[in-house]
Amino acid sequence: MPAEKSIYDPNPAISQNAYISSFEEYQKFYQESLDNPAEFWSRVAKQFHWETPADPEKFLKYNFNISKGPISIKWMEGASTNLCYNLLDRNVRNGLGDQIAYYWEGNHPDDYSRGLTYRKLLEEVCRFANVLKDHGIRKGDRVSIYMPMILELPIAMLACARIGAVHSIVFAGFSPDSLAERMFDCKAKLLITADGAWRGEKPLYLKEMGHSVKKCIVVSHLKRVTPCPLDHVEEEIPWTDDRDYWWHEEMEDKEPACYPEWMDAEDPLFMLYTSGSTGKPKGVLHTTAGYLLYAATTFKIVFDYKPGDIYWCTADVGWITGHTYVVYGPLANGATSVIFEGTPFFPGNDRYWSVIDKYKVTQFYTAPTAIRALMKFGEGPVLKHNLSGLKVLGSVGEPINPEAWLWYYKYIGKEQCSIVDTFWQTETGGHVITPLPGATPMKPGSASSPFFGVKPTLLDECGIEIKGEGEGYLVFSQPWPGNDAPLYNNHETFRGHLLLQVPQASTALARVSHEVWTAFHCDFKRARRDADGYLWITGRVDDMLNVSGHLMSTAEVESVLTEHPRVAESAVVSRPHPVKGECLYCFITPNENEVFDQKLISDLKKMVRERIGPFAMPDVIQNAPGLPKTRSGKIMRRVLRKIAVNDRNVGDTSTLADEQIVEQLFANRPVEA
Ligand code: WT7
Repeated sequence: MPAEKSIYDPNPAISQNAYISSFEEYQKFYQESLDNPAEFWSRVAKQFHWETPADPEKFLKYNFNISKGPISIKWMEGASTNLCYNLLDRNVRNGLGDQIAYYWEGNHPDDYSRGLTYRKLLEEVCRFANVLKDHGIRKGDRVSIYMPMILELPIAMLACARIGAVHSIVFAGFSPDSLAERMFDCKAKLLITADGAWRGEKPLYLKEMGHSVKKCIVVSHLKRVTPCPLDHVEEEIPWTDDRDYWWHEEMEDKEPACYPEWMDAEDPLFMLYTSGSTGKPKGVLHTTAGYLLYAATTFKIVFDYKPGDIYWCTADVGWITGHTYVVYGPLANGATSVIFEGTPFFPGNDRYWSVIDKYKVTQFYTAPTAIRALMKFGEGPVLKHNLSGLKVLGSVGEPINPEAWLWYYKYIGKEQCSIVDTFWQTETGGHVITPLPGATPMKPGSASSPFFGVKPTLLDECGIEIKGEGEGYLVFSQPWPGNDAPLYNNHETFRGHLLLQVPQASTALARVSHEVWTAFHCDFKRARRDADGYLWITGRVDDMLNVSGHLMSTAEVESVLTEHPRVAESAVVSRPHPVKGECLYCFITPNENEVFDQKLISDLKKMVRERIGPFAMPDVIQNAPGLPKTRSGKIMRRVLRKIAVNDRNVGDTSTLADEQIVEQLFANRPVEA
């Protein structure tokens, strides 16, 4: 390991050619973006096609002051466009028709490779848009998508965007129950799915329809016309005539052209469920114009993407990272990307490095949890491959610990690449705090500085702004184009949630509610600004869990656990985990006269897996004859977090209704924990 320096300058070879080549240049543009956002973003908008141009007077209208009316943000009101047109037709017209939009790398290295040019992608999207139209899908209808990482996934998304249907993707790692809940919530008219996916050596069946769906289009991926080394799946999948349709049969006779639906700037583009503070997932809505501007600009600048570069983001399209940085951002820039179906460990632990070598990847974007998992195998698997094409290495999903940062920097980037530790979330649409490759001197573990248009503000417990150095609640005091639509995010409801959930923040919020939009509605953040002005995300103040970059709420898991007939009550906390970042530690109070046994533990694990998904699988389930509650009945989670790590410094417990319970819970820790 190299000795940890506190700051790493960007490689001059990167700075020289970068869009933003010095920190001074970044600061100049940044200031402009805050002083005159309308002017700044209207320059960005010029590269895109607007069927109805924006009125410069109305480029940005917003109100953050509740006393003056409802909170609202409107970008480019009155303008109209179509995302799919801008991503595909515009690029084909600009001469990129024969350029590869996506390379597809299957789970098995010997699977057939597929590349789709921009022209071919446009044709496929139009054909599928016609399929959707034939099934009665119209502008504004919601379409759910539950698919593996195959090319039909972006094709389905873009076909929705082309006809103005709102896609709602559910990550294929979620259980059928989770899918059903989300489909019901958004009143989806149709589901697009596949027979299954490949994960390493085993097929994963997706089409086990316990849920009610009116119509379903199914990609035949496990059983393929084209042979594949693992193509031995003979099992019949569940099928209902007049409801289920094969993708390839539907596509057969469709025209490869479809006129785009012109959408208003603030018309919905997609929704995506994320974990709210309650047990129920929350549908975040992103709209048309602002999202296009922000996805396109962050992609181009943060990854310093230049024509000829090959970009690879390992995130599943089912998460916001995949929406913005596998689909919308790259295609808006006419980029060439890799889409990978498999895992980093199959057929060997060098798969990521072999894919980077195979496609000569220049920008690689992954999660700290993957880096930590791969670090374990040392440098050997890395040295088997030529990674010299790499220029920018991205990190996303959780704070990257300095050890993982340094490993990434030294062994993957060979100390020549810039690392961009991109902080953002589903609601922000794109990166909000991030270094820029040619411009920002890097500090391992710091997300560094705000992107253009983003104005982070730190507040102390009394709601007073902390200027300069200090730590406090992170809020945003100006809108940027990637902001989610307040329409579905009723501001007052969120403030209500926050106040309940984060009592420490209540004073702060009460003071500032009329001035500051807290973008972190539910997943409220704290951050520290150091002496150099760098921002460090220090943690959450609420009850959220982040397992391998998958965000979920404690309530979501608890509601599944307490459904078990033998369980009276449960409390879930996160415990640090060397690879996953955090893991789930669950406290279970069985019903009167019920025993806590191995069967209950395995039942509960199975339930969580089935109801939420494999990634939510608890690491520890502990018997808790009682939970540490305050006199008002609130579970003191900070005490449970201490018990989970066996740390006796639990702090003040004098407000607990029964202090004895803490000792009892320490005594009850299972041996394997
Ligand atoms: C939460 C948002 C945004 C893409 C993936 C997840 C955590 C994400 C970082 C980072 C520190 C990070 C935060 C955030 N997070 N990136 N670079 N440094 N924390 O989207 O599911 O909406 O989760 O992920 O906790 O609030 P999401």
